[in-house]
Amino acid sequence: MIKSAVVPVAGLGTRLLPATKSQPKEMLPVARKPIVQYVAEELVANGIEQILFVTGRNKSSIENHFDYDPELFQNLSRTNKRDLLEEVDFQALEAKFFYTRQAMQRGLGDAMLCGENFAGEEPFVVALGDSIIGLNAQSKAVSRMGELFESRHASCVLAVEEVPLNQVSQYGIVQPADGEGDVFRVANLVEKPKPEKAPSRLAIAGRYIFSPLVFDMLHRVEPDNRGEVQLTDAIQLLCEEGRRVFALKLQPNERRYDIGNFPSYFETFVEFALADRDYGADFRESLKRMLEKK
Ligand code: UTP
Repeated sequence: MIKSAVVPVAGLGTRLLPATKSQPKEMLPVARKPIVQYVAEELVANGIEQILFVTGRNKSSIENHFDYDPELFQNLSRTNKRDLLEEVDFQALEAKFFYTRQAMQRGLGDAMLCGENFAGEEPFVVALGDSIIGLNAQSKAVSRMGELFESRHASCVLAVEEVPLNQVSQYGIVQPADGEGDVFRVANLVEKPKPEKAPSRLAIAGRYIFSPLVFDMLHRVEPDNRGEVQLTDAIQLLCEEGRRVFALKLQPNERRYDIGNFPSYFETFVEFALADRDYGADFRESLKRMLEKK
């Protein structure tokens, strides 16, 4: 069983400015909760026992969110708001949280290198802090990826999701070695290919499992022309060396909600709000009225 996860949350989030000028995009709310809370809850539900958040400047609200707040707890206890108290009691989660800082935003690969000592000699999960998997994060993909990692003696397992052909140029796309079932071996990756050059429509979807070997690859990767160390380059090196890289397709009910841009953030918020246990039904009616007015 894989017990550790690294959650990079240090990015600048420039595509969501001005919302992200002084607050992390990972703390933007999706319906009732900040995005990063869904990510942490998903990991805990998948058996993860320790989570390292790779943070940066302007990201202290993430640490504060998961911390114990004695004043709030006293207030909620005094006013008998037990339900709310349980919802914000992250100490009760069966996982320990750790934090480290990425000094300069030099890309996802560089953020992962901040987790090298934390991961040690064990395989670990990487979960992007701006992506939720499945409505209300109800996904067991990470557990299935862990089983695959162990049974196939893999060096890397990637979650992948089918995207429309006209969107392949926004993602890292996998090239299957021999056919694509729900699980398949990956021959290579192509970063943001043109539709006519795409080896498949399967995009890497924000969840990964790695053996510590990935750190050797990350140390070898040359930064790109923006000075960023790209994780996909390290995965490409794993493929080139003939290491066992596998992909696992997310199920239809495990859609990846990427919050990194406004269209997808708006859509995700509305979908989660419509599913809200108390307010979803009324919200649906007001949304219908809004749409009819147009
Ligand atoms: P993105 O690729 O969306 O980059 O990061 P970004 O910098 O946050 O956003 P834009 O492009 O400026 O709008 C994917 C995940 O990797 C983390 C982000 O916090 C996000 O969760 N990340 C990215 C880091 O931790 N460090 C980095 O240097 C870059």
